[in-house]
Amino acid sequence: MTIGIDKIGFATSQYVLPMTDLAQARNQDPEKFSQGLMLDALSITPVTDDIITLAASAAQSILDDEDRQTIDMVILATESSIDQSKAGSVYVHQLLGIQPFARSIEMKEACYSATAGLDYAKLHIEKYPQSRVLVIASDIAKYGIDSSGESTQGSGAIAMLVSSNPRILSFNDDNVAQTRDIMDFWRPNYSSTPFVDGMYSTKQYLDCLKTTWAEYQRREETDLSDFAAFCFHLPFPKLALKGLNKIMDKSLDDSVKTRLKDNFDQSITYSRQVGNIYTGSLYLGLLSLLENSQTLKAGDKIGLFSYGSGAVCEIFSVNLVKGFEKMLRNDRKKDLENRQVISVDQYEQLFYEEAHLDQDGNATFADYKTGAFYLEAIQGHKRLYKGKD
Ligand code: CAA
Repeated sequence: MTIGIDKIGFATSQYVLPMTDLAQARNQDPEKFSQGLMLDALSITPVTDDIITLAASAAQSILDDEDRQTIDMVILATESSIDQSKAGSVYVHQLLGIQPFARSIEMKEACYSATAGLDYAKLHIEKYPQSRVLVIASDIAKYGIDSSGESTQGSGAIAMLVSSNPRILSFNDDNVAQTRDIMDFWRPNYSSTPFVDGMYSTKQYLDCLKTTWAEYQRREETDLSDFAAFCFHLPFPKLALKGLNKIMDKSLDDSVKTRLKDNFDQSITYSRQVGNIYTGSLYLGLLSLLENSQTLKAGDKIGLFSYGSGAVCEIFSVNLVKGFEKMLRNDRKKDLENRQVISVDQYEQLFYEEAHLDQDGNATFADYKTGAFYLEAIQGHKRLYKGKD
């Protein structure tokens, strides 16, 4: 029995901030963002979009009635949660109309936890081959106006349906994880934005990659020539490019280097337009690769590097299955082009608007553009979500 990803969906906000405008407003050279970070635009959410609406919209785009009847676990991976107690997946389970006898949980370890979610889903399906598990990575990356991380913000969700006999890719049993207790990026409960030691975080990302890749190679007796492509956690694409160059052995055949570099370029196409989506960003890279590469074929092996600050990382591989291309879209760039372009002033208001609660814990909101779901109001401190007809 093979286990892997049967469907992948994606949702992001309906508003977009071009990096050239942000550069101008912050007195930066636009090429610092377009070449130095390899970012062209950031997805910006209004107050009526959050990790629940993004997660539900991403999943809604892939689920059919049979999925809703057979999913028996919903895992939501996030580091921008809306509640310290209730799992966001409980809202998502209800919004999607999934059958009631399901387990719904939320997982956290910075940008890494969706990978742990996939690992748990795999173990569950090994035991219950008829079941399906919905793993969703949903986040809003918000660092603060004029902060050092402002240029690497973003928002979005990736939904992955994990099943036996998957139609996109199968998991290989080759996961190698690493944990190291570091303070490169963290968000205490009392802060709405993270603390980040930017330069240190990039060094840790690259060193975690190098050392985990060395251990992976030792255990698997492999090198990059066995891979058609390698996807990386994408806080911003330039860091992932540095990662690829770090593990690219100089002795590799030129054709292998070209293949990996070409496929890397396809894997960053969406992130360049969306920015960092934390837990989902590795999987947005995977989706971008699968939907844009012209060379991938069934049987190809793809490596994945997941990194969550704090830090936990993991390298593992997947294999594409026959007919994978039929499960993907070829018009997703249009969705990104259709987002409403906003000015820096509008971004500062939209992205940083807070719910103003009255003394009874009620708040209403203006009518903003969202995907298939939106936060309608807060009543008595309870968040009320609605689907659009
Ligand atoms: N033209 C072309 N390139 C230029 C340029 C210009 N005019 N000016 C600068 N650059 C280049 C720089 O040389 C640099 O590239 P190299 O690293 O290759 O030298 C790049 O642009 C960025 O320049 P700076 O380092 O000066 O940029 P910065 O001070 O704005 O900081 C950052 C960048 C540290 C990533 C900051 O945006 C940040 O703190 N981001 C949040 C933290 C983060 O994303 N960390 C990643 C690892 S942690 C993680 O992965 C978890 C997660 O998701 C957060």
